[in-house]
Parts: sequence; C-alpha cells; structure tokens
Amino acid sequence: MKFGHFDDKAREYVITDPKTPYPWINYLGNEDFFSLVSNTGGGYSFYKDAKFRRLTRYRYNNVPVDNGGKYFYINDGGDVWSPGWKPVKAELDAYSCAHGLSYTRITGERNGIQAEVLSFIPLGTWAEIQKVSLKNTSGAAKKFKLFSFAEWCLWNAEDDMTNFQRNFSTGEVEVEDSVIYHKTEFKERRNHYAFYSVNAPIQGFDTDRDKWKGLYNDFDKPDAVFEGEPRNSEAHGWSPIASHYLEVELAPGESKDLIFVLGYIEVAPENKWESKGVINKSPAKELIARFDSVEKVDAELTKLADYWANLLSTYSVESGDEKLDRMVNIWNQYQCMVTFNMSRSASFFESGIGRGMGFRDSNQDLIGFVHQVPERARERIIDIASTQFEDGSAYHQYQPLTKRGNNAIGGNFNDDPLWLILSTTDYIKETGDFSILEEQVPYDNDASKATSHFEHLKRSFYHTVNNLGPHGLPLIGRADWNDCLNLNCFSEDPNESFQTTGNKTGRTAESLMIAGLFVLYGNEFVKLCREIGQDGEAAEAQAHIDQMVEAVKKHGWDGEWFLRAYDYYGKKVGSKENEEGKIFIESQGFCGMAGIGLEDGLVEKSMDSVKEWLDCDYGIVLQQPAFTKYYIEYGEISTYPAGYKENAGIFCHNNPWIMITETLLGRGDKAFEYYRKIAPAYLEEISDLHKVEPYAYCQMIAGKDAYLPGEGKNSWLTGTASWNFAAITQYILGVKPDYSGLAINPCIPSSWDGFKVTRKYRGATYNITVTNPSHVSKGVKSLTLNGNAIDGYIVPPQQAGTVCNVEVTLG
Ligand code: BGC
Ligand code: NOJ
Repeated sequence: MKFGHFDDKAREYVITDPKTPYPWINYLGNEDFFSLVSNTGGGYSFYKDAKFRRLTRYRYNNVPVDNGGKYFYINDGGDVWSPGWKPVKAELDAYSCAHGLSYTRITGERNGIQAEVLSFIPLGTWAEIQKVSLKNTSGAAKKFKLFSFAEWCLWNAEDDMTNFQRNFSTGEVEVEDSVIYHKTEFKERRNHYAFYSVNAPIQGFDTDRDKWKGLYNDFDKPDAVFEGEPRNSEAHGWSPIASHYLEVELAPGESKDLIFVLGYIEVAPENKWESKGVINKSPAKELIARFDSVEKVDAELTKLADYWANLLSTYSVESGDEKLDRMVNIWNQYQCMVTFNMSRSASFFESGIGRGMGFRDSNQDLIGFVHQVPERARERIIDIASTQFEDGSAYHQYQPLTKRGNNAIGGNFNDDPLWLILSTTDYIKETGDFSILEEQVPYDNDASKATSHFEHLKRSFYHTVNNLGPHGLPLIGRADWNDCLNLNCFSEDPNESFQTTGNKTGRTAESLMIAGLFVLYGNEFVKLCREIGQDGEAAEAQAHIDQMVEAVKKHGWDGEWFLRAYDYYGKKVGSKENEEGKIFIESQGFCGMAGIGLEDGLVEKSMDSVKEWLDCDYGIVLQQPAFTKYYIEYGEISTYPAGYKENAGIFCHNNPWIMITETLLGRGDKAFEYYRKIAPAYLEEISDLHKVEPYAYCQMIAGKDAYLPGEGKNSWLTGTASWNFAAITQYILGVKPDYSGLAINPCIPSSWDGFKVTRKYRGATYNITVTNPSHVSKGVKSLTLNGNAIDGYIVPPQQAGTVCNVEVTLG
C-alpha cells in the first residue's frame, strides 16, 4: 500500500494521505540553520546544534505521535482546520505534502479555502521561511482568521526538558509590529535571540502558550483559535510561544501570499541593547527585509533548486530502472547530505540531545558526500581528527557547536580511528588534494599538540598495531562498529549504559571485524604512503598488515565463515560451536572487502554462508541464530528481542558490505539482489509494512525472527545512506575515483544490456556508456576515451572544464 508517489521530475515525494504509517519527515537547511518537518507540519528548528541551540520546542516520544511543530490554523466562520491536517485534524477536501530537496510544501483545502505552506531555509541564511499562499476557491467572498504558531525552546534542549523549576520563570519576549522576539536569557550569558515575523500587519498575537491555548487543551483545540480571539498575551516565564493573528478577506478566485520568517540572530556583546531591557532588533530587521516580498522569496527558492541541481549533477545514472535512477540520482544523494549535516543527532528517532557527531559515523558519512561539496568534507575531516587523542584513539562523539569531544561518552571504541583513513583517502581520490596531509591538526582540540594530518592517519593505523590481543587480533575495546557487542562490559545493573561501562580490563576480547577493517584501510594507508613517496613507511605498515592477514587465516576462520570475535574468556564468538550467534555479518563483510583468503576461496565460502544463513526476504540479518537469552559476556546485543536491532535485525548499514564483497567476486546478480531488497524506493508498495519513508533508508528493518519481519525503524540518520551510495555507484555501477583517475569497473546483473553514467570529477565531465553485449556481470573488455582505446579501466583525469566520452564494453 502506498501513501503518495514519487515525482522524479520535480524531485519530490508527494504524500497524499496525511495518515502515513509513521510521520514521514524532511530536513530543511544545509549549512547552519536546520529544521525537521513532518508531513503534517510537526518538527522543530535549531541553529547548528540540536542540543545547545534549539530554537523551537519538541517533545520526544509524544502522544499522539508527532505532536508539536510550526502550525497554522484557519478559523473560517467558526470552522477550524489546519492545512497539514494536524493538529486540528479536521477532514480536508484536499491534502498533499510534497517533500522536495530542502523544502516542503504542504497544501490543504477545506470549504473553498486553499492554504499552501511552503517551508525552506534559504542558502546562507539563519532563518526558515514559510510562504503561505491562501486562495479562495469558492464562488463567494471569504473572510476568515489565520493563526500562526511556534513554541520557543529555551535554547538548551536537554535543560529545557528537565529543569522546569528554573525555566518556568526565565521566559521573556518582546513584540514589535508584526514580529515576536524570543529573548530568554539574553540579559545574561546569551548573545543571541530568535524571532518570528510576518510581512503584513497583524490584528493580534499571543506569546503565552497557556493563555493562548487554555491550560488543559492540546494543540488541536487552542481556545484563542476556536474563539477567534487572540489574547495579545505577553509571556513572563512559563512557556513562551509566537502566534500571529491575521484577518484575511478574499474575493472569489483571489489569492494572497504571506511570508513568515523564523530567524536566529547573534549580536556582539557590546551591541546587545537598543535601550535598557530592549534588545537590538536591527539585525533581525535586516534579515526580515531580505524576504519581505514573494519575488525575493521565489528568487531564493530558485537559488536553492539550482544548488541541488548542481550538486546532483556530479553523479547521475540512466539505467532503465526508474527506481534505481531515483535512488541514485536524487534520494540517496540527498540523504547523504542529511547524514553529513546531522550525523546521528536529530531525527524522529534521535532526540538531538543524546548524540552529537560520531567519530566513526561522520567518517563513514563522508564516503557518500565527498563528491558533493569536497571543501566541506575536508573541513569535517579536520574537525573529526582534531578530537583524536595522541595515542591514536578517539572520542566517540563530539558536539557540532563546540567541536569538542564528548567526555560523557569517552572513547575506546577500537574501530573508531581506522575510519579516518577511509574518509581521508576517499577525499584525496576525489579531489587530488594531497595538501590535507600536511595540515596541522590538534589532538583533543589542543593546538599546542598539533601534528600533520598524515601523522594522525599513522597514529590511527598504529593504534590497532599497539592494541592486539592474545591471537594477534585487534582488541575490541568497548565495542567495534557494533556498539552492542560489549565484550568487556559484564553489566548486571539495568541503569548502566552498555556503551560507557567497562567492568573488565579488556585486554583479551578481540574483534575480527576490526581485523578486516585494519587490513582494508591499512592497505589504503600503504597505498597512500606509496603515492606520496613514503616507501619506508609503506613497507613497515605492510608487514603489520601481512601479520594480521596470517592471524585472521589462522585464528579467524571457522571453516565456512569468518569468526566474529574472541570474548573476554578467549572463547569464540560467531562460530559453529556456539549455540546462538553462530555467524555474524560484520566480519564476513570486512574480511571479505579486505579480500582476506580470497585466493583460497575463503571469501566466496563466507559469502555463500551469508546467503544461506543470513539472507531473508527483506534483507540480510546481522547474525544467526538470534539470541534468545541475555549473555552477560556479550552485552547489549543479547538484550534485544530476536530479530530487532543488532540482535538479528536487518541492520541496513552493513548490507552494502556484503554487496561490495559480492562485486569483488564478480557476482553482480547477488550484489544487486541485496541492493534492491533494502533500497527504499523498491519498498514503496509495501509502505504499510515498511512504515518509514519510502525515500530514505532506515537503520533497521525487523529481521526474520521478529514479530513483524520487514517493518522498518530509525529512518534517516544511518551509515546506510553513504554505504549504499558507495555500493551502488562505485562497485555495482562501478565508477570510482582513484588517485590516478576515474576507475570504471562495473559488476552488474548479467541480464542488463548496459547503462549510462554522467560523472563530474576534478572539474571535467565524463559521459560514460557501458554496454554488455555478452551478458556478463563483470570484466571490462574494452574502454575508449573520446574514441581512443585505453589499457585497463582507469581513465586519467581530464582537463577541468572539458567533457569527454567514455565507452566501456563488458565481456
Ligand atoms: C543501539 C546502537 C547504537 C548505540 C549508540 C544502541 O542502543 O542499538 O545501534 O549505535 O545504542 O549509543
Ligand atoms: C548506530 C551507530 O550510530 C553506529 O555508530 C553503530 O556502528 C551502529 N549503530 C551499530 O551498532
């Protein structure tokens, strides 16, 4: 069952039923100012950091779901409704919500009034614009009342949700003309305020939530709206809001546009006040003036559309499969931008107050983003590396506002450092910019300890070398990529965090996943060293990698697949000897991508085992058999009911590791079959089961052991976005940047006749046509560049500004 449709030309998903199986959301903003907006207008806004600079309030885990947002209400002669259906939930004669690239357009119609709310954040702007278009679609004149609504959050979203004894007394506002200013704490340590304006005279307003709404009412029944009478209330403490009241008259067929601006302002400390107690509004007025007409707003919308068209033009495919094309050309790339911006901080499954930017997460997010805005990728790499410690280990997370490591979470996730090699080498391959290696980068944000970025990579590599266990395999630390395989935790206290508790010293438990990671990105480190002429460094590193490969073959192979780990007692995890959790996906993926034992058939065997044990109708589950009891020596993984999350759920993030390994084996049919199973556009028809957005990957789909296999959860903020983008574009379609040029080595389903890719790379445009006359999956038989044959499959970088034609024949 579907709840809308893709409009590929407009690059929109158009929802036509407001009662989606879960709120289907979109992200506005790409730089500093962000909003989350659901298909009924729910959500919130923040500046840079969803925890420390929350502008509007949101109650997590609310009842009913998605209660609270930026709402409009219409009172049409006593008949009250909202264009997004919620919060009033009056039946609409027509409803649609088009989620586009960084904008959302919600349209509702009832009794001859059509109201369209188009929301977006203009580039380079600290404000959300709402263009509200009201139209009289009836044959008679219409006179009605419009109320806007936004609820201010008292800045620190965590404190806002907990410290009521103080916060109920701190709220302060000012109202001048049609602008409502939120200035809580401005007179003490804050140099920022927010405002909500409209470009028309208002006939009333409210800033005290409970006076406007009535203390015991929900958002669906605000007294002021239903009575058609604003209170003109002034908030002193309690819960400040911003609600404009406007009386509107429209002749038959007439329409009217209003521009609302919700903005954020920072002022210099010496410039805070206009007069005693009155905030300096001039920067707000300047901002408002930039958007005071429809023409100005439309011009910004055009800029935003051009911005996206340009970003997406870097990689596009014509495959003949519209679902694949819309994933690759639009939605997967869009989600990669969102995960780049948000890491794992703010979604409808992440509160925005718990997790900031993840060290491993943000490094991985870059592989799907670096081609879009390489300069921002570079900055991010340096920010991440700046939170590394001198011994190569890393803070697991940092806050986007301060860019400082998060002490509460700490470090010792032993996979973390290695991901820095992945992001950096991908960046250099994309751009050819080796200068990043010479950049002076601090440790733990302490500039006095800075070294070159290359030295950071070296310390990342040697962090593994310096932390090997009894079998010569990497020690796992708190956990590796799988946050829930907590082999040193041994927690009996339900109030302990599995992520931060380490009850054992941790010098025995080893990870085969990190072993694969080390070999794969260790090889990248060696390759990089050779590129920059550091042959001694390369040879030294190579010796450690060779030893690791030996250790994996000797101690990490279980006969049919790679083991997952050795636990605290030195016992095997992920072995046929185990009763539950015999085979895990992560070590198959990473040892496979690293090609460990490829020549001896180990990788092929391990992939066959994945197919046999882990594959199901909805994707590849994380491990089998699912745990049915709590294993104290394994930790959180065994706390989840079977089939959910890390306990045998389909953890979409790791499925592409299998797709990629399949492409190394040349098995394009299998790789693509796995790809289709979890790619959201292919799941649109089963939206009622899948539940979450058909245009964004989710972190987890319930696995075959679950109560409801196929049900998705935790959409948007997941490494699934970047890894699937890498799997499809670089390994299946096979167009992948390398140091010496653009490698083109597809591995596709044998039934395909071919496909076309346009790739912009280091300033030149490559029009690539792949044909597959012999219906193979892999193997470049011939490649021509502008008609001239090239040996191998790497096209050297072409002159910036030029367009070239590349013809590839498989066979
Ligand atoms: C989840 C993991 C997540 C971790 C982060 C766990 O509860 O299952 O997926 O990475 O929390 O803290
Ligand atoms: C989600 C976390 O964001 C990520 O860091 C982790 O690798 C996976 N869960 C698996 O546990």
